[in-house]
Amino acid sequence: MEKQRERVRQQRMVIVVSPFHGHISPMIHLATFLHSKGFSITIVHPHFNSPDPLSHPEFTFLAIPDKLSESGISNWDLEGIAVTLNRNCAAPLLNSVEQMLLQNPDENIVGIIYDTAVFFAQSVADHLKVTGIAVRTSAAARILAFPVFPSPHGEGYISSQDYISDDGLQDPQSVSTKQLLASLPANPNNSIELRIALIREIKKASAIIVNTIDFLEQEALAVIREHFAPSIFAIGPLHKLAPTGSASRLKEDSSCISWLNKQAPKSVVYVSFGSLAAMDGEELVNMAWGLANSDQPFLWVVRPGSVRGSEWIESLPKTFHERVGERGKIVRWAPQKIVLEHSAVGAFWSHCGWNSTLESISEGVPLLCRPFFGDQMLNSGYICNMWKVGLELEKGKIAEGIRRLMKDEEGMEIRKRAMDLKEKTEACLREGGSTITSFNEFSKQILG
Ligand code: UDX
Repeated sequence: MEKQRERVRQQRMVIVVSPFHGHISPMIHLATFLHSKGFSITIVHPHFNSPDPLSHPEFTFLAIPDKLSESGISNWDLEGIAVTLNRNCAAPLLNSVEQMLLQNPDENIVGIIYDTAVFFAQSVADHLKVTGIAVRTSAAARILAFPVFPSPHGEGYISSQDYISDDGLQDPQSVSTKQLLASLPANPNNSIELRIALIREIKKASAIIVNTIDFLEQEALAVIREHFAPSIFAIGPLHKLAPTGSASRLKEDSSCISWLNKQAPKSVVYVSFGSLAAMDGEELVNMAWGLANSDQPFLWVVRPGSVRGSEWIESLPKTFHERVGERGKIVRWAPQKIVLEHSAVGAFWSHCGWNSTLESISEGVPLLCRPFFGDQMLNSGYICNMWKVGLELEKGKIAEGIRRLMKDEEGMEIRKRAMDLKEKTEACLREGGSTITSFNEFSKQILG
């Protein structure tokens, strides 16, 4: 047994991450899970937004040059960043992996696992003749927003947008065409080349791992399986498979846990809009008064820099602080997974990022939805219309929305459904459950 473990220990996985918190975090969970199975792990990341190596001493971290600082691209231009990384990083990745092989001749690289956003890694896997494994860190259904197809009427390509509306790609029941289109960039034509390249590359992968749960997206997964050659494995929620810190450089304020300890069970509204969303000062003030008027205790994460034109919460009036006193706690960054597990938390007012969505579902916490961009629209549709474990929060009706969820009969039904999803999620993570079965299948088919 020990000998076999020793043999596996020399098997290394190279994991290439996209430089955004919401993408790094699930990849680190996957890396932790694979490490627990005996693999050595190298995390390869661009210089931009690099993860903190000290948070995971068990892994080797390797930075590759990305030319982002020279490109002048803004930190908020997510598409521009994706284009630049995919254009510039294949050669440095190849170089790093070759160096690694030279320095450790006894090691075997089993595979290169990469976030689909940094699909350049597939060409490196092909070049080195090692297994390429793509990972979708957001909902499976979102993959349907990416394909572009050769135009049936002439030269070039049409995007999934045209394809879906003109040729009627069957909507899986779980995701409507409208939601899918809302999750595309404002002008999808700008990103068409990026999407052509992404789909072309990930179709060459030996497998696609999706951070989702089979029962949440059964129909979308079935449609994707029809359209993609590589095997698709729904292995989520990754944060429950291998709980670990995220390697993010944002410092968590754990004083909120002692504050939560003093609150009544299921009474607190937790508010957080993730690592990227930004709003204007007016929205911040409206949120503040909505929370004040709801009469519920609240824990509110306001990320520094997330309010345009402000450092933090200096635009909130004194009267707001006087009104809420100890009933409200505002922090810069929270240990979100621990917060959602806390018995005092009764609702999550969220931007509906995919990680936040999965984290809330896993703890049976119902959601109040305020999506900002991209996949958040799709996720909000899932939450409110498909799984029915949340409510869309209408502008100007914040206190009312909170009361509907926390006090009304409608809210009671939603909270019950949220608890059902928690139980179903736990079942998937037990031996014989869909996630564990899917991982075992992945292990057998892909890792050998
Ligand atoms: C981004 C996109 O916006 C999102 O839609 C996509 O699905 C993934 O990439 P982000 O906006 O950061 O991610 O949202 P989300 O996916 O919810 O990830 C946020 C992560 O930060 C979660 O894992 C959450 O636990 C963590 N977090 C958030 C904290 O640890 N503390 C906080 O205070 C806030």
